Amino acid sequence: MSNDTNNSAAPPLSPGPDVERRTAVVATAIVGGAGVAALAVPYVASWGPTDGAKAAGAPVDVDVSGIPPGTMRIVKWRGKPVWILHRTPEMIRVLHEDTAALADPDSKRQNYPTPAYVMKDPALRSIRPDFLVVIGICTHLGCSPNGPFAAGVKAPLGPWPGFLCPCHGSTFDLAGRVFKNKPAADNLAVPPYRFLDEHTIRIGEAPVHA
Ligand code: FES
Repeated sequence: MSNDTNNSAAPPLSPGPDVERRTAVVATAIVGGAGVAALAVPYVASWGPTDGAKAAGAPVDVDVSGIPPGTMRIVKWRGKPVWILHRTPEMIRVLHEDTAALADPDSKRQNYPTPAYVMKDPALRSIRPDFLVVIGICTHLGCSPNGPFAAGVKAPLGPWPGFLCPCHGSTFDLAGRVFKNKPAADNLAVPPYRFLDEHTIRIGEAPVHA
């Protein structure tokens, strides 16, 4: 497993110098939750590199076999929270229906370029339909959104399920796409990742043939 600071395949994850500021407010945002019941989302220890190596950017391997459908796990990579959401068939279905409500349904904006290898189906933004992998940092000012919430659980989410940023009310669907008329203009960033086998995701490395 190599140190990904040397991985030229990794795409840029942020458009500017405010990465540190964005990351710094994540912890605050997590504490300042929306006050709405959401699914429990555990931070997990992954096997592999030490904390020091992970902080330096080494890839992180995650066994996703224990993530029940409809739930999410958060792991840390390069000091950022990476969400791994195990989507159900129903979650996948609604992603093809909410596009008119989205600001950038096909992820064309380039502030956080979406890797081509997750764009086979723009509604899913993932290598496999059942697993979404995104960086859980709001593209407005860097808070960490809460969720996933079911449709209509909280008024700002409207009829679609997804995530709610508690700082200024931006909402994102279950592919990390931002809804229209919200402070955030960009979809959530997708980190480089690939499947090592059916149950293991390596965060920090793009697919070999991407
Ligand atoms: S930081 Fe998320 S809406 Fe402002």
